Amino acid sequence: MEIRANNTEIQDHINKLFTEILKEQKRYMGVRPPNHEKLHLTKDLLQKYENMRGKGFFYNYLSSGRGHGPFTELIDESIKYDLIGGIGPNLLGHSHPLYIKAQLESATSDTIMCGNLQPYPEALQLTEALISNVSKKSKLKNFWFTGSGSFANDLALKLIWQKKEPRYRVIAFNKSFAGRSVATQDLTHNESYRQGMPSTVQVDHVPHFDQKNPENALENTLSELKRVVKENPKQHCAIMLEIIQGEGGFIYGNKEYYEEIFKWAKAQGLYIWVDEVQTFGRTTELFAYQMMELDEYVDIVTVGKALQVCGVLYTEELNPKPGLIAGTFNGSVSALNAGQKIVNYLTESHFFGAKGRIAEIETAFLSRFEHLMKTTCRDKITYAGGVGTMIAYEVGDSSKETTMKYIRKLFDNGILCFMCGANPTRVRMLLPLSLTNEHIDEIFKIINDTVTEMFDE
Ligand SMILES: Cc1ncc(COP(=O)(O)O)c(C=O)c1O
Repeated sequence: MEIRANNTEIQDHINKLFTEILKEQKRYMGVRPPNHEKLHLTKDLLQKYENMRGKGFFYNYLSSGRGHGPFTELIDESIKYDLIGGIGPNLLGHSHPLYIKAQLESATSDTIMCGNLQPYPEALQLTEALISNVSKKSKLKNFWFTGSGSFANDLALKLIWQKKEPRYRVIAFNKSFAGRSVATQDLTHNESYRQGMPSTVQVDHVPHFDQKNPENALENTLSELKRVVKENPKQHCAIMLEIIQGEGGFIYGNKEYYEEIFKWAKAQGLYIWVDEVQTFGRTTELFAYQMMELDEYVDIVTVGKALQVCGVLYTEELNPKPGLIAGTFNGSVSALNAGQKIVNYLTESHFFGAKGRIAEIETAFLSRFEHLMKTTCRDKITYAGGVGTMIAYEVGDSSKETTMKYIRKLFDNGILCFMCGANPTRVRMLLPLSLTNEHIDEIFKIINDTVTEMFDE
């Protein structure tokens, strides 16, 4: 982005600030235990916050706003590896130079939020960056900003419904997660997330790829698809899926699996709607559908998290009638600016492809897990898998209780991650790209020590 309020003095200050902020943030690079005198601060403030928001927090975590690369500092002065990145958004790593630059540049602009009535060039530039990277075979032509990943999915549903009226039923997958809005809570498989809610969208959930029974996975999914369509003839408008199920436990199929499902869906006249809110930028291509070479099938794709803003990519055919979509915000000028920088950085550097850094990170993690599972953590780590920077593993009996106990210990030992899936519950990592091989070695030492500590108790 251009600097808005601009003169040589402003540019000098920006350059100086950029350097000073980066230098200062780089001091937070290495695991450190809490300062015991400040330990109570996090607890006290979180308690105060909890009293007001009415719900507690999973970790005793309150960020100090300082950290660098994979490291985050807490207000108790402890520094931990952040291997969950705010559940996805922090793909590049803490105080990445592009984040700092985007924010400083945007500080010279005249407002904070950019919207649909009075757009800024940042919205145009990010839209262009996204559309120019959907790949040549793709039919995706348009992009519309939304305020969250959930709202991106809501909007996708509206575009599909308008074209398919009155076919309003949607096919989604078991273990799927689509968000927390009124519509997406029905698309999400987990019923406990919608207790007391009326059903607003009619959704048929079918089995996703079965990692334990890969040979029969396609047949199982297809037979359920055929069953739900037969039971509800001419009622479905779309099939909606995450190619790598995030909350579900990083479950995913292969190209053949998706291709056969998509061919079947097309033959039924269903739109193919891919939720890339969590996968965007995290697999070995910018979009997971590209990694699986499904570009030609996809009609509508939702994005969010790592992009810093959210929205929907869709074909010309799905462009709605006037009045259906609008809204105040595209996002903050700094988030739009950062989003564009992130897309350019990812696509112009060596992150993607079979030999890119994301594939290297995946191999580095999975090979180290394999080693642990054969040696010191035999029968204690029982599974490791995932794609790109989305890596998950199972500890002990893979129950929610064991996994929760383990990740809390891991937190105390210097690593922040989270869980995903149920039966089995997995330890979820959404890794930052700023990890070096030395960091990865240290992370595995902490994992090994924590697993040993837990099971030797
Ligand atoms: C696959 C997927 N879709 C949608 C969402 C909802 O996004 P948001 O939390 O920004 O509303 C999420 C969030 O975790 C997600 O993982």
